[in-house]
Amino acid sequence: MKNFDILIVGGGLAGLSAALNAPPRLKVAVISKVHPLRSHSVAAQGGINAALGNNPDGKDDSWKKHAYDTVKGSDFLADQDAVNLMCKSAIPALYEMDGLGAPFSRFTDGCIAQRPFGGAGYPRTCYAADRTGMVLLHTLYEQCIRKNVHFHDEWLVTNLVVHEGRCQGVVAYDLASGKIMPLKAKAVIFATGGYGRVYLRSTNAFINLGSGIGMAYKAGIPLKDMEFVQFHPTSLYGKNILITEGARGEGGYLYNNKGRRFMEDYAPSAMELAPRDIVARAIQTEIDKGNGIDDRFVHLDLRHLGREKLLKRLPGIRDICLLFAGIDLIDSPIPIEPAQHYSMGGIDVDATCASSVEGFYAAGECACISVHGANRLGGNSLLDAVVFGKIAGRTAGEYVEGAAEDNRFDRVIVQHAAEWNTKVETLMAKDGGENIYKLLFELKDVMSEKTGIFRSKKNLEEALQAISTLRERYQNAYIFGSCRRYCQEFVTLVEFDSMLDIAEVIVLGAINREETRGSHFRLDFDKRNDDDWLKHTLVTPSEKGPVIGYKDVTLGEYEPVERKY
Ligand code: FUM
Repeated sequence: MKNFDILIVGGGLAGLSAALNAPPRLKVAVISKVHPLRSHSVAAQGGINAALGNNPDGKDDSWKKHAYDTVKGSDFLADQDAVNLMCKSAIPALYEMDGLGAPFSRFTDGCIAQRPFGGAGYPRTCYAADRTGMVLLHTLYEQCIRKNVHFHDEWLVTNLVVHEGRCQGVVAYDLASGKIMPLKAKAVIFATGGYGRVYLRSTNAFINLGSGIGMAYKAGIPLKDMEFVQFHPTSLYGKNILITEGARGEGGYLYNNKGRRFMEDYAPSAMELAPRDIVARAIQTEIDKGNGIDDRFVHLDLRHLGREKLLKRLPGIRDICLLFAGIDLIDSPIPIEPAQHYSMGGIDVDATCASSVEGFYAAGECACISVHGANRLGGNSLLDAVVFGKIAGRTAGEYVEGAAEDNRFDRVIVQHAAEWNTKVETLMAKDGGENIYKLLFELKDVMSEKTGIFRSKKNLEEALQAISTLRERYQNAYIFGSCRRYCQEFVTLVEFDSMLDIAEVIVLGAINREETRGSHFRLDFDKRNDDDWLKHTLVTPSEKGPVIGYKDVTLGEYEPVERKY
């Protein structure tokens, strides 16, 4: 059996940041179901926030102002101690990435360039044109290779092994050989990303099915604030590919079918640069009211920014529009609609990335610390991944350095692997049943239709019923093919189990939270209610089903006030 000091699951920004910052004397491995450079972090476009004060309009920015914007953007649900930590750490983290070679865009004086982003009082989003995630991921990957981190690419973790209150390792499916492998580790860090593809319309990569979150939950670790699902205001209509907030940061306008910049009705001061929850709701409201173009989308217009600026600052989304919509944003407005984009909720961990299970940690989008509360600000996700990935690597490192070698439970990991092997064989032997891709489509459709931007008790209860029916049908799912190597059907089948749990926890949290806060908009409870709901939701699995509990929000110097933009 392979044996590691620290096993990191997920090769995106948080996972690579953890690997790079784990103590060099430890045996560290990254296991990822895709090659790390194909992780979803690569798709992040607009930037990463840090109060560097480089922009001529943002000279007196500070990490405290960044923290305030983050807390206000979160609709006051974020834990303020963790937000302070993230925003203070942002400045050295940015210079560290710069020093490691990340090719940031520059102002003419040579400083790292910064652009305005939604919900931010200052232009503090550092960027590399509109390919920021890609350059950060490549930079960290190069450094991990230099550090001789072990990589196991195209291995899907099937379960987290927790025994006697302690994490023992994982079981994984090696796609290339088709084998099930037991992997022992003194510490495991999950950096498995979000669950965006639980929704039909999402900016996320198709790999983002959320199985890391689901595996942690199955192992008994609570999920926090899962009802808070972010919808990005501007995805390319019909395809839902991200059209970066940086486009509005650079000065893009949103128009309805009357040619009006409708944001003046929703956020008269911030306009297009209000936080995402507000802009996404405004766009959906316009479409629902009949103010959408062809009743389907609104326009994001960048034409007035001029060819030179567009080619320099937004070349990636120009390519996307050319390739996927056949339009050139230099001379045409872009048809856009909101789409699922980010999970504010996730595995319940503290600001050191530690969970309730000894030896198990989580960082990045799969984790909920919580620094984003009910709504994340654009540019804070790459930051969260870089900063808390590093913290996770260090925390796990300290734990491992104090932990003795323990072979007592090796047989438990081996036994879990044997059970998975039997499961694969049984599935392969079945010659009929439910088609997993059909179940997958139905789940996504229900989540998009009934658990989207606007929610009501009736719709949420219908979603819950549909999920329960899908769970029954899933028991009868089968695999059509018979080859164990690169069996995508098996991958989907394993991940679908997690998706059912995730969907159920999102819906339960949303039914229960009878208020409107950030991304969670209840048509039947359309006001924020701090008296009853200024608290985190925690959902824990039990034999009888999910158990809902709560946890206090860590407040600080920023008193909850009504958000005005
Ligand atoms: O719009 C964007 O470029 C996305 C950024 C983010 O989600 O932080």
